[in-house]
Amino acid sequence: MSKIKEEFRDDEEVKDEPGWLPGWWMGIFYFTIAFSVYFTIDYHLIRNWTQEKQFAEEYKSAPAAVEETITLKADGSNPFRGNNAAVSEGEKMFRTMCSACHKPDGTGLIGPNLMDKEWLHGASDKEIYSLILTGVPQDKMKQKKSPIGGPPSPMPPKGGAPISDTKILKIMAWLAEKNSSLIPAK
Ligand code: HEC
Repeated sequence: MSKIKEEFRDDEEVKDEPGWLPGWWMGIFYFTIAFSVYFTIDYHLIRNWTQEKQFAEEYKSAPAAVEETITLKADGSNPFRGNNAAVSEGEKMFRTMCSACHKPDGTGLIGPNLMDKEWLHGASDKEIYSLILTGVPQDKMKQKKSPIGGPPSPMPPKGGAPISDTKILKIMAWLAEKNSSLIPAK
């Protein structure tokens, strides 16, 4: 038998005595057990650090992010009529979200002029509110061709903008301020 083979002989005695792991290792082990007990008590009983509680706290501290939902008055008119803050907010929103089709001053491009006395789908707050909510699909369009030439193109719901019903009423408050032929109710 050569010398190399001798070194790898598999007949050495395996030490299989019961014993303890090194002190530092057992220290960490006991610490994790103690910590899990402490953490469970702290999490559930002392701090009550649950998702439900965190959500409730966050919800309470962020009321500004939740807009109050306002809708038409009982007679069908817009509650923001004559409200100066709503009118100027509405004007800004109209410029960003509706002006591509109605022109920044509302006098019309692809969509009709909103500043004249002619209303294709009714002239009351209630009718205009539901028109803006649903848009005007192709088959409901009254314009047979686009005012700037070419085929008529429909109006998407809310003009295609992700705006709340309350914001629509603010835009309408601006429309009513500029165009008195938009009437509160029939
Ligand atoms: C993609 C283009 C487009 C956008 C964006 C758009 N509209 Fe329109 N809008 C139209 C068209 C087209 C019509 C007319 C449909 C028809 O012929 O009946 C219309 C009709 C209207 C009418 C009715 C006019 C009337 O004489 O009866 C109102 C009010 C109106 N839009 C408001 C808005 C508001 C407010 C916004 C923004 C939130 C908006 N639109 C965004 C295309 C648009």
